[in-house]
Amino acid sequence: MKPFQDYLDTVNQAIGAIPYPEAPSQLYEPIAYHMALGGKRIRPVLVMMACDAMGGDLSKALDAAVGLEMFHNFTLLHDDVMDNADVRRGKPTVHRRWNDNTAILSGDTMLTIATQYISHTASWPVMELFNKTAIEIYEGQQWDMDYEYRNDVTVEEYINMIRLKTSVLLGCALKMGALIAEADAKDADTLYAAGVNMGLAFQLMDDMLDVWGDPKTFGKEIGGDIMNNKKTFLLINALQLAQGDDADELRHWLNDQYATRDDKVKGVTRLYERLGVRQLAEDAIACYNKLAITAFNEVKMSDDAKQAFVSLANRLAGRNY
Ligand code: IPE
Ligand code: IPE
Ligand code: MG
Ligand code: MG
Ligand code: MG
Repeated sequence: MKPFQDYLDTVNQAIGAIPYPEAPSQLYEPIAYHMALGGKRIRPVLVMMACDAMGGDLSKALDAAVGLEMFHNFTLLHDDVMDNADVRRGKPTVHRRWNDNTAILSGDTMLTIATQYISHTASWPVMELFNKTAIEIYEGQQWDMDYEYRNDVTVEEYINMIRLKTSVLLGCALKMGALIAEADAKDADTLYAAGVNMGLAFQLMDDMLDVWGDPKTFGKEIGGDIMNNKKTFLLINALQLAQGDDADELRHWLNDQYATRDDKVKGVTRLYERLGVRQLAEDAIACYNKLAITAFNEVKMSDDAKQAFVSLANRLAGRNY
């Protein structure tokens, strides 16, 4: 295995070399803008690492890796419209810098470019995995929006929602790398399971950072989930735990259409702290991270490769970005 940075450099170089047509500039400029904003590039790096760990040819995985990152970025353009988010990766979101129509159509174009890149693998199982994963993500995004209007969402429903909107893409990235390397089916599936558990920890952490993160490192505005009444693990547990005045106050924040951003975010954050839901989220992250590590250790690969995945999982579970 190579150091993480090597896979990242290879992926970043390939992403930087994507050719975009000049015209219509209103279609392609936002794509180039968004792809150049960086981000962690976790998904393409996972494709490369899994392919390498399973003894595959990295040059065969690179287009799939680029395609998966393009796909992820497409989901972000649309997600930022749906979540009414102004800032991503420390810069204005596409729908704010341009407009909603631009985010829709540039996003659609990114989805198709992604499919083109992934189809360069000329592998039917890879395409099937990709298409199945994409539809699951749309389902997860729909549950995420539906749950904004419900106050009785269970932890089980939440975990299923984040499995769909976020985790399956990390599983898909690992399995895609394994399929390209022609790994045996059991290892490919165990890598998928590791990715899903890593993804659950990843989204739980994203929800925590949306409350307690530093916008400078996190790159997004704090409190977006609170403003949208997103049924995060934190809010679901708070709704279940709050009693008396706390319960009244929480209901007030969920129903008050006229609360200022500052008041609502501060008010709900104070309740989260009083109710101890932060610790519950930290415990859940540790639990899913452990499941991911156990799965990585079950895959037939070198100790060196196992170590690389375990340290990445630990780093992501404790990130501030
Ligand atoms: C953001 O994904 C959407 C989630 C699934 C939480 P990342 O946190 O991987 O975003 P970037 O690509 O690093 O910006
Ligand atoms: C996003 O979840 C999942 C997808 C984009 C599919 P979030 O809405 O929490 O992601 P961020 O916080 O905007 O990156
Ligand atoms: Mg969002
Ligand atoms: Mg969202
Ligand atoms: Mg989020």
